[in-house]
Amino acid sequence: MAQIVVIDLGSQLCHLIARRVRELGVYSEVLPNTITPEDLNKIPGLKGIILSGGPASIYEASAPHIDKGILSLGIPVLGICYGHQLLAQYLGGAVEGGMRKEYGHTVLELTQEGQGSPFYSGLSKDQDVWMNHGDIVKSLPAGFMITATTHNSPVASFEEPVKRIYGVQFHVEVTHTKNGIDMVRNFVSRICKADPDWSMDDFVEEKIAAVRKMIHGKRAILGLSGGVDSSTCAALVGKAIGKDLTAIFIDTGFMRKGEPDEIKSAFSSWDIDLRMVDSSALFYERLQGVSDPELKRKIIGELFIREFEREAKKVDASFLVQGTIYPDVIESGSSTHASTIKSHHNVGGLPEEIGLTLCEPLRDLYKDEVRVVAAKLGLPDSLISRHPFPGPGLAIRIIGECTPSRIAIVKEANAILMEELDRSGFYHSTWQAFAVLLPIKSVGVQGDARVYKQTIVLRLVDSVDAMTANFTRVPYDLLERISTRITNEIREVGRVVYDITDKPPGTIEWE
Ligand code: XMP
Repeated sequence: MAQIVVIDLGSQLCHLIARRVRELGVYSEVLPNTITPEDLNKIPGLKGIILSGGPASIYEASAPHIDKGILSLGIPVLGICYGHQLLAQYLGGAVEGGMRKEYGHTVLELTQEGQGSPFYSGLSKDQDVWMNHGDIVKSLPAGFMITATTHNSPVASFEEPVKRIYGVQFHVEVTHTKNGIDMVRNFVSRICKADPDWSMDDFVEEKIAAVRKMIHGKRAILGLSGGVDSSTCAALVGKAIGKDLTAIFIDTGFMRKGEPDEIKSAFSSWDIDLRMVDSSALFYERLQGVSDPELKRKIIGELFIREFEREAKKVDASFLVQGTIYPDVIESGSSTHASTIKSHHNVGGLPEEIGLTLCEPLRDLYKDEVRVVAAKLGLPDSLISRHPFPGPGLAIRIIGECTPSRIAIVKEANAILMEELDRSGFYHSTWQAFAVLLPIKSVGVQGDARVYKQTIVLRLVDSVDAMTANFTRVPYDLLERISTRITNEIREVGRVVYDITDKPPGTIEWE
């Protein structure tokens, strides 16, 4: 099997590169930057190496490096962003602290050489690309040529076609770079000559076999939330170990309106041992007086595990299956050089001591890949296309303390939002939608009298993989209907605002 490896230099987007390559039907894995040329040489079918971006400046003492021998293996190399700068520095070019940082969209102009490069094959002279960097490559290593420039980056991409070393300052892996996938395809197929011989069917079969081998002869419980990740896990692990799996739904009290009953009926036709556990009193109690978002996440992460440990004892299970996916892992800072953005409850929010062995078959996948796996496993469309819902639930959609009255407000606002999205058919035109309760009041006028009431934020985003997102362009009349209903039907709310922040710089959730 042909393989392209991605070397992790700390970018939040590192795994996304590997995923883009897999999308093209070529197997790809992420490896740490400590990998040696000798180890790389042992990988069968290795056709190309990609150096990821990263948050560091190459001038920082703690900046990640690679063994320079990797560049002499005769295997094509592509450096992205920080990887591009690292190549320039290693090979004799110059990198400079950018006088003007470049974040977001920019126009890339291919040079004469770029227009003839296999990397840009089939693409026009001007490209809409996405940048996120401070330093820039100022001058070229000997023997290299500039293949593209932008207003701020004189060396936005370069190459040495004989040694097959390529660098790009922008991010080919994000969907915001309009033709990024074509550039990845050109690198993989035209430059690395890697044949597409891998598919998601292989993934499903391999994972079923691996889970069967891991759990063999023992029992497992699975945290089922009713979302696509945990449901897909349930189907996959169910195929692997059948009756040795028990699914546990923990009602944290921070679920959406009516959710526990909906889950119970949705899974009643599944051949699965599902147990519903009402832990809401415990979650409320432990979150009393807690406002800090990271503390909320850690408390919730720990409570989930303690509840699972107790339930596991009842069925004599030694494994805990979790529907963890890659964005949970990377945002929790679980890669060596990546920053912690937020501790997802099932990764960074876990306690140090866990009395169960974790089994996370979807840990390397992004949400849209999970949806492909779900379809392959025959899950119903209604479940596959459900909006994501975070494990900590409404607790991270109440900014500040989670009191019973504040939970009731956000629950109701969210229910109104969902009803209107369903009614208008807009639910499937947005990737994720929810309401957030702010800790501020504002002045209004209702029935000719002054009121001083709470604020609800409506957050709707378009995304593919949750790593980047744009706020959804919602029709104004729909926004108006939602706003009117919320202020009319929820006595405590006097103002509704719409969040127009993309990710980055925001994240999708507010906490
Ligand atoms: P952010 O807010 O990081 O969210 O842009 C990315 C996606 O992840 C979901 N999310 C979580 N999911 N546990 C989860 O299972 C968590 O702790 C968590 N935090 C955020 C979020 O809803 C979005 O889809």
